[in-house]
Amino acid sequence: MAVLGIESSAHTLGIGIVENGTILANEKIMYEITDKGLIPARVADFHASNVPLLLEKVFASANLTMDDISAIGYTKGPGLGAPLKVGMVTAKTLSEKYKKPIFPVNHGMGHIEIIKTRFNLSDPLVIYVSGGNSQILGIESFPFRHYHIYGETFDIGIGNMLDNFARAAKLVPPWGSTVAQIAKNGNYIQMPYNVKGMDFTFTGLLTNSIKLLATHSKEDVAYSLQETAFSMLCEASERALMLSRKESIIICGGVAQSRRLQDMVSRMASSHSVKAYFGEDSINSDNGAMIAIVAEKMYKSGMSFPIEKCNISQRYRINNIELKW
Ligand code: FE2
Repeated sequence: MAVLGIESSAHTLGIGIVENGTILANEKIMYEITDKGLIPARVADFHASNVPLLLEKVFASANLTMDDISAIGYTKGPGLGAPLKVGMVTAKTLSEKYKKPIFPVNHGMGHIEIIKTRFNLSDPLVIYVSGGNSQILGIESFPFRHYHIYGETFDIGIGNMLDNFARAAKLVPPWGSTVAQIAKNGNYIQMPYNVKGMDFTFTGLLTNSIKLLATHSKEDVAYSLQETAFSMLCEASERALMLSRKESIIICGGVAQSRRLQDMVSRMASSHSVKAYFGEDSINSDNGAMIAIVAEKMYKSGMSFPIEKCNISQRYRINNIELKW
């Protein structure tokens, strides 16, 4: 029996269907970000008006109907309140109408589990890097089985930092890939570097980079910013790798699409005889299948959630969730 997953925490509305960890369909549509950024109420309107069409599309491409679905997952958080509610209401409506169990899913766990499933890994060190999040995690068993956060950003996520820089440099969206593109022609300028143990901060780096735009080329600043931020992640991850003694590494989340980051993490990993894994871009960007994959694991491990207790949480932390699988 297949599981349906709905992702709506930010600008992407994604609906996916999986069965035993295999993706049967994964459809998405993205709200176009303007230079004003994401306005939650507008994103929610966009998602709400696209839900019927996307549901139709995902069932057509999986060649299934609601009768073939055994459970429904939706993103509980973290994310933007109004867009999250659209996913929750959609999941609750389908759950009530078709009498299917419902599962609230942590967004970051979706990013992690889809990559673990893709490569059949059970216990890697995780580098989770996206717009709003930057964390280094791994499963620990005390006091209960959960994703322990070894280190994380103390201020903004690395993706938001790159976006903010790109906006200040008047680059065009998608900002992450535009920064990566122009960075290819840059030379290094000294930048502030802020790693404390396995934690890190990005705002000093961002402020300095924006200031340097007045005196240096966009290419040089983009290159230096990217190299410094990725080096900070590599240093913190290397420390976490030594501490946790994990035997593999995954990079997941939107920023995991960066070829430069993939290359740097791979080199760090191979210097410790550890392999680094990264998935295709389509499963690193926000999508519905990643939510379905976690919902399927929750469902199969016997968890259940009364529908009236299913809510959203804009700051839903991964490290308080018990893993039953
Ligand atoms: Fe995400």
